[in-house]
Parts: sequence; C-alpha cells; structure tokens
Amino acid sequence: MNKEELKNIFRIQESLKVIGYNDIIRISKEILQYCSDEQISIDSVLERLKTQEPWEYIRGKVEFYGNDFYVNKHTLIPRLETENLVDLAISLCKKNNYSRIIDIGTGSGCIIISIAKTIPTDQGVEFLATDISTEALKIAKRNTKRNLVEGKIRFLQTNLLKNIDLTDNTLYVANLPYIPSSMYRNLDRSVLEYEPQIALEGGENGLFFYEELLKQLSSAKEGIASTLVIEIEPSTLPQMHKLLQEYKHEVLKDFRGLDRFVLIHLS
Ligand SMILES: C[S@@+](CC[C@H](N)C(=O)[O-])C[C@H]1O[C@@H](n2cnc3c(N)ncnc32)[C@H](O)[C@@H]1O
Repeated sequence: MNKEELKNIFRIQESLKVIGYNDIIRISKEILQYCSDEQISIDSVLERLKTQEPWEYIRGKVEFYGNDFYVNKHTLIPRLETENLVDLAISLCKKNNYSRIIDIGTGSGCIIISIAKTIPTDQGVEFLATDISTEALKIAKRNTKRNLVEGKIRFLQTNLLKNIDLTDNTLYVANLPYIPSSMYRNLDRSVLEYEPQIALEGGENGLFFYEELLKQLSSAKEGIASTLVIEIEPSTLPQMHKLLQEYKHEVLKDFRGLDRFVLIHLS
C-alpha cells in the first residue's frame, strides 16, 4: 500500500469508528478497493455511510457461505446465522434422499443457491425457491448466474407455497420475516430505513408467516412425509412450541448459542 492509500485507509477507518462499524479493518479495505474499481470518490461513500445506509447496499454485493451474492434494497442482507441454516439443510440432505428442496422466501437466493452448489446435478434433486417480491426474485436469478447454478433452480413468485404441488420427500427451508412488530419498530435506523420491511416484520407475535406456512402445508395433504427447517427469533420460541404441538420437532442453536432454528417432521 502506498502512502496515499494508507492515508485514505486511515481516514475511512476514522469515519467508520464514528459511524459505529465493528469490522472496520475489512470494510475499510473493501471501500478503498470499491472506490478505485468504480472510480468513485471516498467522500461520496462516506457520506452515504453516515446516513446509516448499509455498506452491502452501497457495494451491491455481500459474501455468504463463501460465495458472492448481489443484494439491493429489495433483498435482505443475508445474516451470518443463516449460514448455520444452510449447514443444517445440507446435513439433512446428506442423511435423507429428498427429491425436492424448496426455499420459501428466498430473497437474494442465498440459501437455495448455497445448497444447490453442494449437491451434484446428477443426483436428480429438484430445486425450487419462492418469494412474494418480484424484485427480490430478479436478484435471486442474477445470483444463480453469478454462482454458476443458472438453470438448476426454478423460481416462483407466490405467497409462500401457493400453487405448488406438495408431495412427499421434500425438504422445505424457510427464513421468513420473523421479527415481532414491537421489536421491529426498535431496530437500528440502518435496518428500518434501508432493508425491506416485507423481509423482516413477522406480525404481532413474529409467527404470522410460519402460521400461514403450516396451514398451507397441513391443508394441502394429510400425512405428507417431509421435513421443514425454519429460522426464528429466539424470543418467540415458547409460542412456536405451542404452534408446533402436533408436530415432532426439535430446536437447534446458532453459532451464538441462541435457539434459532426449528426442525419439524411433517407427517
Ligand atoms: C427474512 S427474508 C429472507 C431472505 C433470504 N432467504 C435470506 O435468508 O437472506 C424473508 C423473505 O421472505 C419474503 N416474503 C415475505 N412474505 C412472503 C410471502 N407471503 N411469501 C413468500 N415470500 C415472502 C420476503 O420478500 C423476503 O425476501
């Protein structure tokens, strides 16, 4: 790094500290590189960061599960704990011979694409992903190209699983909006002003979308033998247990030790 770059890195890091970023060494290097690649002034990026706009949206991409994904204001910025959900789904796929994997509320497509990348095409598994947002689905499709799985995943704009034929032997993976409304209203400005509400707020108790999903799954077919694995807000676990009282289910923790995932046996 030359003298000029060192001066700039220092300036970026000082601003990031004031804004309240944690991972300032990595991000400052990314900003320097981005500004040089895109021929953009550092000051213009710092100005946007000062308004709490997330760096991921300014840059237009994020790393998830070791791969790069495009993101924009229509897609949630994938969270670190969701990588644990991908691990969980992949380990379930290794133990069971699912004929289909369906990601419900795919957003940037980070979950289904990360899973699809690990499962060879010749295994004959069908990959499907849904979202209510057409704009999010556009990004998810671009991400299949970026991650070399174009054509391997079918995307559908629908309400959860509506219009999808529910058959046995499917792994359903869902990271649906799960933040209770009162909690949502108190989130940071960077989330409230920049990330899509439709991707985060899960109604009064945070379970609205999971309640709907379970209704769709149970009304579609009696006795389907499949698995559903979901990401939740840990504080909603007691209500989640109530919602799932008819189902055999188990709770799994994220890397922070929080009750973040529920594995549900649908039969
Ligand atoms: C928490 S985000 C998860 C995005 C991505 N799967 C991830 O893990 O980063 C929830 C996603 O569900 C989508 N969504 C909200 N309501 C929906 C519905 N009724 N049917 C399908 N998708 C929905 C949102 O558009 C958003 O992309």
